[in-house]
Amino acid sequence: MAIYQATTSAPVNIACIKYWGKRDTTLILPTNSSLSVTLSQDHLRSTTTSQADPSFKETRLWLNGKEEDIKSGGRLERCLKELKKMRKERIEDKDHNAPKLSEWNIHVASYNNFPTAAGLASSASGFAALTSSIAALYDLNNFSPSSSAKPSAASPSELSLVARLGSGSACRSLFGGFVAWEAGSLPSGTDSLAVQVAPQEHWPTLHALICVVNDAKKGTSSTSGMQRTVETSALLQHRIKEVVPQRMDAIIKAIKEKDFDTFAKITTADSNQFHAVALDTAPPIFYMNDVSRSIISIIEELNRVSLLNTGHLVAAYTFDAGPNAVIYTEEKNVKQIIELVLRYFPQAESNPFPDPFQLFGGKQPAGTTTLPEGFNEGVAKVWETGSVKGLIHTKIGDGPRVLGEGEALLSSDGMPK
Ligand code: DP6
Repeated sequence: MAIYQATTSAPVNIACIKYWGKRDTTLILPTNSSLSVTLSQDHLRSTTTSQADPSFKETRLWLNGKEEDIKSGGRLERCLKELKKMRKERIEDKDHNAPKLSEWNIHVASYNNFPTAAGLASSASGFAALTSSIAALYDLNNFSPSSSAKPSAASPSELSLVARLGSGSACRSLFGGFVAWEAGSLPSGTDSLAVQVAPQEHWPTLHALICVVNDAKKGTSSTSGMQRTVETSALLQHRIKEVVPQRMDAIIKAIKEKDFDTFAKITTADSNQFHAVALDTAPPIFYMNDVSRSIISIIEELNRVSLLNTGHLVAAYTFDAGPNAVIYTEEKNVKQIIELVLRYFPQAESNPFPDPFQLFGGKQPAGTTTLPEGFNEGVAKVWETGSVKGLIHTKIGDGPRVLGEGEALLSSDGMPK
């Protein structure tokens, strides 16, 4: 008996223009367009295996090895329903010999290669991996460059419509490189999809440094936080109408021209406005903490002196619904930024920096002793060890990948390995 199974991986994306607010909470339609950078799956990814079998009694899901309840009418069911419909219409109704996978239950196992405890958003890569693996299982995908486009294939933009039903930001993880999620205006949501602005090869020197900030508090989730903002913030309305449309145009132009200064200016301004609308929510929502604000001060100071000394900015920071910072910079500046961050946020010896790009020749990086000319050392205090509990250095990356049998998370009997 044949085994119908597929395994894919999908990347994390970090927005430069933030999605914050829904105009339809069931279909997950946003109040504004957004734009993100896809990060490399070599460092951060979700991997998902889906298997369909006529003997499965129910649809089951395991996340990081633990079985989860599947809520009836919940996000996973909505994604699955759309994919089953595509499978039926595009394949089974046309070819009566095709196995009726759309009528069978499926088993799904998903795994993140980064600790959920790091507080990094996993819903984007998670729902993108789920969507792409079921699409591959149903023979709807066209991710592999070697396979020529099948008539049944769904484009990444079409699959982004499905991933969006799982989590808004997930629709942007269906592409590599720079990705826009166009808000659209139709009540059906069929025009609310992701498109690629530029592939990763367009600007391969763009790197990201994630500062994982120690924070015990469990904050307000994105889903409930953004709804409260929609209901109570007057500033959000200004952002939706006046600010985001202009910023989308300007950042797309900056990306096409590889104009880092403009890219950085818009990215930092948009992160700050997102946190301003969170503060403008009643009751207010705080996602950044004092460590986050110190990172802002250090990067702003670095950019200030760099602008004076060279006429250019060096880095952009952005924060999602939590205290972790993501710093975008060009490859040539990463080393300097790591050393600067480590000066203010010393690391425990027990927590070595993995140095995936071999910047430090096998040695552990230390906090810099030579600050750039004119840098005001007093912009932040030196924090106690472990305030930033780790640095993840990565770069711009590609979209979902179809993986081989060897990487499957389910055995032939449909149970997790
Ligand atoms: C701050 O996509 O997690 O990261 O659609 O309710 O699942 P839901 O929300 P989610 O929100 C992400 C918000 C953000 C900004 C962004 O990624 O654009």
